[in-house]
Amino acid sequence: MIEAHQLCKSYETPGETIRVLQDLDLTLADGETASIVGPSGSGKSTLLNLLGALDRPTSGSIAIGGQDISTLTTEQAAAFRNHQLGFVFQQHHLLPQLTVLENVLVPRLAGDWQESAASTESRARDLLQQVGLGERLDHLPWQLSGGEKLRTAVARALVNQPKLILADEPTGSLDPASTDTVADLLLQLNREQGVTLLVVTHNAALASRMSKTFELRNGRLSPRITAH
Ligand SMILES: Nc1ncnc2c1ncn2[C@@H]1O[C@H](COP(=O)(O)OP(=O)(O)OP(=O)(O)O)[C@@H](O)[C@H]1O
Ligand SMILES: [Mg+2]
Repeated sequence: MIEAHQLCKSYETPGETIRVLQDLDLTLADGETASIVGPSGSGKSTLLNLLGALDRPTSGSIAIGGQDISTLTTEQAAAFRNHQLGFVFQQHHLLPQLTVLENVLVPRLAGDWQESAASTESRARDLLQQVGLGERLDHLPWQLSGGEKLRTAVARALVNQPKLILADEPTGSLDPASTDTVADLLLQLNREQGVTLLVVTHNAALASRMSKTFELRNGRLSPRITAH
């Protein structure tokens, strides 16, 4: 599902080049689950942005589902994200003028969508029910708590039935019970539909529920042995 080789990413700022990722390799098989931990500023979000074709590496190659994503045009990258990926952002980026249900349906507006509107809406309602927001469908984002916004963003990432979910701190502002709900939902999709999961988190409990854990340090990943 993910083949990243010799990835380097530097940011140019006035007077300084910040080298964030250096010769990073990552392989994840179809249907695997993995977490990435590491100190703040170590480059975890940078790495997810590259894997999600939101940004380009300085050098190195990335294939997702066998497709080389480093050569995609902006439009192709948008279509790739819409069809293959569920992305949960560290800042959840809900659209303020849309309700919870409408926010979850946003991915449907982009790209060519084969499914009927009614089927997508019924799945969106089910997902919102599963993350505990069945009673909040018509709320606007400002009428939600931080954790409810995050759970809305999780539902939105799942509505297009992605093969790969990239999640950046998907439980950042959640209490332990809601953290478990989100983790349960992601792992259920993995078990039942074979969705591949890559989760960045500072939460040790969430990290340990994935079958592999990597640590990002000094620009590279190293495996961490997790006890089960
Ligand atoms: N657009 C940018 N321009 C310049 N520097 C950047 C840019 N984006 C990120 N950085 C720097 O790159 C480093 C890695 O940032 P990144 O957001 O990937 O860290 P992170 O591991 O996700 O941290 P956190 O756990 O706090 O979310 C940081 O030092 C950050 O300041
Ligand atoms: Mg980050």
